Formats: sequence, structure tokens, C-alpha cells
Amino acid sequence: MDIKNTAINAARKAGLVLKENLGKVNRIEFKGAVDIVTEMDKRSEALIKEEITKTFPDHGILAEESDELKTTSGFRWVIDPLDGTTNYAHGFPFFCVSIGFEEKGEVVLGVVYDPMLDELFVAEKGKGAYLNGSRIHVSKVGSLDRSLLATGFPYDLRTSKENNLDFFSIFSLKAQAIRRAGSAALDLSYIASGRFDGYWELKLKPWDVAAGSLIVKEAGGVITDFKGNPYSIYSLECLATNGLIHNDMMEILSRTTVDDNAS
Ligand code: IPD
Ligand code: CA
Ligand code: CA
Repeated sequence: MDIKNTAINAARKAGLVLKENLGKVNRIEFKGAVDIVTEMDKRSEALIKEEITKTFPDHGILAEESDELKTTSGFRWVIDPLDGTTNYAHGFPFFCVSIGFEEKGEVVLGVVYDPMLDELFVAEKGKGAYLNGSRIHVSKVGSLDRSLLATGFPYDLRTSKENNLDFFSIFSLKAQAIRRAGSAALDLSYIASGRFDGYWELKLKPWDVAAGSLIVKEAGGVITDFKGNPYSIYSLECLATNGLIHNDMMEILSRTTVDDNAS
């Protein structure tokens, strides 16, 4: 099987297992005050890794719930086996599987699968972004006033001053509305499909954004840090928009620099 079909197959298989077990979580571990992991995060990750390694045993793998598998192949999979764990643990049906694939450090394939809606977002570098096989594009909303925005809050929000509450209150008064739906990978996919117009978040991890960032770009969206610098999956700041409201959002977000050690 090729890379793309391996990713799609793994995302669908893991997504199905997550869907079947929604509402049945009985083991939750706390990684931090509000950062949790369930047995299903681990089960999903094991399943995805097994699918990948049986076809591509020499590829590297960076996945949220285990140590990185490093290789010299130049290929690496970046996986969030369950993006939206807090939702999942509460039976709130908004979560996904996110799988990105890198060639020499550049994401060239992104797959995000929402098993509840059976929505599969796929993008390949230079080949556009697709939802269930149909081409998708970012929205045409041109003003913040008319925009539906999305965001999230970092897991250290109780202890860090850089907890996004300041930006949240500013944008609440400027946008049409804001949603905090609880899955960064779906937030990015929703930017790509025109459901959201702008999305910002701090302190995301590579597995949250690897697939989604490519899906946004391939759908004609813009993704940068808060000052407009090129985006990397290691950036502490993520601003993804339809392009039309990018400057307006940047104007607000560029007022401060996110420092991971600030408290
Ligand atoms: C989280 C979700 C959430 C975002 C957090 C992420 P997880 O991922 O994407 O929307 O606000 O920053 O860590 O823990 O559910 O995989
Ligand atoms: Ca995540
Ligand atoms: Ca996760």
C-alpha cells in the first residue's frame, strides 16, 4: 500500500475503534491538572503505529503517547491518535485522528478523520485539499465582524499568564462569534473547508497541527505565527485563516510574544 492509502486506512481504522468505544471510557490518567489521557488514546496510537510499521518499518514516528521512533530514512509520521481527548472522555462527540507525513522535515501529506461524521480531510502538498473526495476551499468572509473564529486554551492555563484568555476576550467583542470546540486538528480542517474563517491558538504540539496545517495551505488558507512569520509545526503560535482576515487578526495577536516559560 502507498503512503496516502496507509495513512487513510490507519485513520479510518483507529477512528472506528474510537467511535465504537465513545461513552465507554473507564480509565483516565492525568498528565497535568487538566491534561488527560485515556486508554483509547493509547489503543488508537498502537493501532495506527502497527498499520504504518507493517508497511514502512524503516520510517520514523512521532506520536503523542509514546517516545519518538527516530530513523535515518528521511521519512517521519506525526500522529495524534485522538485529538479532542477531553471531549472524548466526556462523551462529547467532537474528536478526530490526525496523521501527518513528512519527507525530509516537510509535511507533504495530511489526513484528519472525524469518525462521528465520517468526514475524511486529506491534503497532499501541491495537490489541493479534499473532504470525502471533493475539493475544499477556505471561506470568502472578508471582515472580522462577520467571521466565525475558533480557538483553544493551553493545558497550562491555570498556571501561565499566556493562557489566551486576553485574546479570547478581545476577539469575543470583534468577531461574529467564537467556538472552542476542543480539537485543534478539526479546527484547522474547518478553516480549510470554510466552516471557520479564522483560528488561533498557543502552545500546540507538532501532532496537533502537522496534518491540519497542510490541509489549510492546500485549501488556499494562510497559516503563520502571530507576527506573520512562516509557520512550523514547532511554532508556539498558530494563526490560520482564509487569508482575508489574516492581517486583522495578526494586528491583535502580534501585540505580545508567547513565551513558554512565562507564568
Ligand atoms: C488538544 C486539542 C484542543 C487544544 C489543545 C490540544 P488533545 O489536543 O486539540 O483543542 O486546545 O491545545 O492539546 O490533548 O485532545 O490531543
Ligand atoms: Ca491534540
Ligand atoms: Ca491527543
